[in-house]
Amino acid sequence: MKIDGTPFRSVWVDPADGWSVRILDQTRLPWVVEILRLTDEAAAAHAIRSMQTRGAPLIGAVAAYGVALALRADASTAMLEGCVARLGETRPTAINLRWALERMQRALAPLPAEARVAAAYAEALAIADDDAETCRMIGQHGLPLLQEIAARKGRVNVLTHCNAGWLATVDYGTALSPIYQAHDAGLDVHVWVDETRPRNQGASLTAFELSKHGVPHTVVADNAGGHLMQHGQVDICIVGTDRVTRTGDVANKIGTYLKALAAHDNGVPFWVALPHSTLDMRVRDGVKEIPIEERSGAEVTDMTGITKDGRVETVRVVNPGSPAANPAFDVTPARLVTGLITERGRCDASEAGLAALYPEKV
Ligand code: MRU
Repeated sequence: MKIDGTPFRSVWVDPADGWSVRILDQTRLPWVVEILRLTDEAAAAHAIRSMQTRGAPLIGAVAAYGVALALRADASTAMLEGCVARLGETRPTAINLRWALERMQRALAPLPAEARVAAAYAEALAIADDDAETCRMIGQHGLPLLQEIAARKGRVNVLTHCNAGWLATVDYGTALSPIYQAHDAGLDVHVWVDETRPRNQGASLTAFELSKHGVPHTVVADNAGGHLMQHGQVDICIVGTDRVTRTGDVANKIGTYLKALAAHDNGVPFWVALPHSTLDMRVRDGVKEIPIEERSGAEVTDMTGITKDGRVETVRVVNPGSPAANPAFDVTPARLVTGLITERGRCDASEAGLAALYPEKV
């Protein structure tokens, strides 16, 4: 995707040196477009943990490059196993992280140490390329949902939560991919963007992406969705996900569940877009089994923004001394999900639906 005419992926190897890894610092967007240079495993781990880089598919790809950086220092089997374990602990909920690291380990463990660094870069690039193409295909399979609404009523109002656009993936995005394709095909699409407290990924990142692509959108407080749905102002919800169980339960950014409940109550279709790397067939009951990341209460008590004279500042918005809790994800049970949009097509959020699309994973 493009920022001011320049094509970007969310992670890439610096062409100038052929080995350091570049990412956009997502903690500084939308105010500052800053490209970070990662040169070792610790920097990759820090980028994931601090959410300089984020979004389920993207943290998998960055962790894969983190393995390549680790092996540059030491390509031994002990290092391979150690860096896979360490990078795997940076964030707990998105399964894409484990998926990418297991793929790296499978590809690299059988090789002699001297072949591992080149192979690690090749495998990380393959993961990144796979994600970009997968997300493009998710857009293709989600597009008919929007075309059908457009044919019926003209303008299509989509509500989305968090950021599941190109910044959360290597390119195109998951939930936003059908929206970009619909917009590019000339459909009149408008997006309600949930601000997505506490970190505001909607207000900062989704709004940034959509505005750079020229997609009409409006940022709303997280609490506004139910009201908009009651008043017929939302035709469809499309969200991304950090992990989908074999029964179709969906973990995603905190607040997704409440939107699914409101959509269900108002007969608004609630679709979830995911790449194959987000499927966790080892888990059945998402509410009981998916680990939910607990992040710092400071993300709730403090907010960062830009002052009228252009300074980026963080201020406290919570009563001094009051403690804050910050569960970062929730699980939407499959019964509240209209369907899943994948790179292989759409299916029910159910064991049978997923088995039909991914028979090799059953
Ligand atoms: O905590 P984040 O910002 O990494 O959470 C991101 C989300 O919840 C996204 O919706 C999800 O990763 C899907 S991204 C295509």
